[in-house]
Amino acid sequence: MSKILVTGGAGFIGSNFVHYVLENTENTVTVLDSLTYAGNRASLEGLPADRFEFVKGDICDTALVEELFIRHDQVVHYAAESHNDNSLHDPRPFLDTNIIGTYTLLEAARRHDTRFHHISTDEVYGDLELDDPQRFTELTPYNPSSPYSSTKAGSDLLVRAWVRSFGVRATISNCSNNYGPYQHVEKFIPRQITNVLTGERPKLYGAGENVRDWIHANDHSSAVLAILDRGVVGETYLIGADGERNNVAVVELILSLLGQPADAYDHVVDRAGHDRRYAIDSSKLRRELGWLPAYSNFERGLASTIDWYRQNESWWRPQKAAAEARYKQQGQ
Ligand code: NAD
Ligand code: TYD
Repeated sequence: MSKILVTGGAGFIGSNFVHYVLENTENTVTVLDSLTYAGNRASLEGLPADRFEFVKGDICDTALVEELFIRHDQVVHYAAESHNDNSLHDPRPFLDTNIIGTYTLLEAARRHDTRFHHISTDEVYGDLELDDPQRFTELTPYNPSSPYSSTKAGSDLLVRAWVRSFGVRATISNCSNNYGPYQHVEKFIPRQITNVLTGERPKLYGAGENVRDWIHANDHSSAVLAILDRGVVGETYLIGADGERNNVAVVELILSLLGQPADAYDHVVDRAGHDRRYAIDSSKLRRELGWLPAYSNFERGLASTIDWYRQNESWWRPQKAAAEARYKQQGQ
């Protein structure tokens, strides 16, 4: 039994991980989250009080981080500024949280010899051509495109340096695009689902040919638990579920699952520097740690995600107007 500190546990993937850990293990969990616009306390409702604690605070707060590391065995670090579009308009919070925040946690892990798992993204590898037969592996050189992905790349390199220079017991995972419940409506899939639910048309950047490699958030969680349990310190593991789809195909599937005509969407201004394609080769994780995704059928996973947004309008409704107003200003 472990006491796990989860940074960013009120965000999309962190909250899914917290639910997953409490449902599938006997561990206790403390969430450290500063509740930025992306954090939502409601994503952590109904959790068992004897095994779950919530602490509101910033990962850059050295004194608070120190106090929390003293009483936890393992740390899983999800907290980040996570949205590419926001990073193009105001990069500063990305540097503060993704770089200085990760540095603050690594220094505490070093002082307390805490087992540390760093959550990262496949976007650190840049992008692939649409017709490239290759996928990203743990050996692909870093080549990030945006302020978001470059600050995540920087945070990964800090982790590697703290392992090598100071013997910090850390692992890293780089995962592909997640979908599932509790994802903020600014992100692609929830934006399109909630657009249709509110009578708006889905919005595709540019031609919509960009490819993302979709994985259900629960599969991300099971992979992180496998790495915490059996991963080798100092190693990086890529997490993916062979879910490549282009954006048009995803929008058409959402429209069809919601009973709308397949072409009921709009093309809008493309994202600056828009990465063309991400694709993960997760064979190291599967071979060495015996991990397998449970959600092999994207259409079924998407249908259950749509049901969740249908049934939880009170969770997303308060964010929707502000997110759309921001997009409208950008012509998106
Ligand atoms: P999110 O934006 O939904 O959640 C981030 C959480 O971190 C929020 O609850 C926010 O309040 C909190 N936070 C931000 N700054 C903080 C700070 N300074 N101190 C404490 N808490 C802070 O993000 P997400 O989509 O859940 O992503 C979580 C992690 O997973 C990130 O590290 C991201 O890079 C990584 N990741 C995301 C995806 C994806 O598809 N969303 C894919 C691969 C990796
Ligand atoms: P996003 O969810 O922002 O994730 P990421 O940038 O980390 O991949 O976007 C996923 C894809 O969807 C990306 O190619 C951009 C595109 N996209 C749209 O076409 N329309 C939208 O409204 C949004 C938010 C994203």
